[in-house]
Amino acid sequence: MRLQGKLAIVTAAASGMGRAGVERFVREGARVAAIDISAEALDRLVADFGAGKVVPIVADLSTPDGARDSIDQAVAALGGADILWAHAGMPGPASVENLDIDAYRKAIDLNVTSATLGAGQVAAHMRARGGGAIVFTSSISGLVGSMMSPIYSAAKWAVVGLTKSLALALAGDNIRVNVVCPGLADTPMKAGFTGRSGDPAEAAANEAKVVGAVPMGRLVKPGEVADAVLWLVSDEASFVTGVALPVDGGFTAR
Ligand SMILES: NC(=O)c1ccc[n+]([C@@H]2O[C@H](COP(=O)([O-])OP(=O)(O)OC[C@H]3O[C@@H](n4cnc5c(N)ncnc54)[C@H](O)[C@@H]3O)[C@@H](O)[C@H]2O)c1
Repeated sequence: MRLQGKLAIVTAAASGMGRAGVERFVREGARVAAIDISAEALDRLVADFGAGKVVPIVADLSTPDGARDSIDQAVAALGGADILWAHAGMPGPASVENLDIDAYRKAIDLNVTSATLGAGQVAAHMRARGGGAIVFTSSISGLVGSMMSPIYSAAKWAVVGLTKSLALALAGDNIRVNVVCPGLADTPMKAGFTGRSGDPAEAAANEAKVVGAVPMGRLVKPGEVADAVLWLVSDEASFVTGVALPVDGGFTAR
């Protein structure tokens, strides 16, 4: 088992890629604190993967208190932390024109601030255990521009910058910091990118447009992202830090 005895924290853990990550972390021997805003979805997670292996923590990560306190609760419940996958994020407004400033701030807070605070809260605990691994979630929109999601793209570029900077700052403590950059993924959040107008035909057309630009010609499966994260937090990636890893079927290779 690749994570035997490890203490892991996953945010936005109850659905999509986060859930696939929890499944893999548990399978590989870790105890996992799973943070999410949905108590119901967390209940299902615990029922599926086992109460002894998954500690559910309900929190709104778009608030600084929620982001900080939930990580503190996770560390206390696990008795330390070796791994953090700070995965929470959201699409945000579709345009900078007539910008809804509250929606803008919420997107920045969930995508960037929660990741920043998560790393900030966990670093000392990792240092105390001789090191650790942090993975953030950016996007293809954190590596190239996004016509449909400018705020999201700005936030996800910030997450890549945070990754590289923290990789430098924490390398001496044996804490590795990396980020995964998925393409459009087959999860509930997909509709937040392709279906903003609420028109299913438009959502299908937008999805087809994105898939048409993916050299491998399909959406990302949640498990494919979780597999990349599993490798990044495992000892197999022991000398890998500061990397923004696309999981995108070649989308950003052009
Ligand atoms: N789905 C995509 O196409 C895609 C592509 C690239 C990157 N991403 C990134 O992946 C991450 C999550 O995406 P997913 O596709 O796994 O999503 P998902 O929709 O499957 O799951 C999102 C989870 O986040 C939780 N959540 C929502 N708001 C929250 C809040 N304020 N506090 C705590 N938890 C909250 C939800 O309850 C849900 O369990 C985000 O960072 C997103 O930007 C998604």
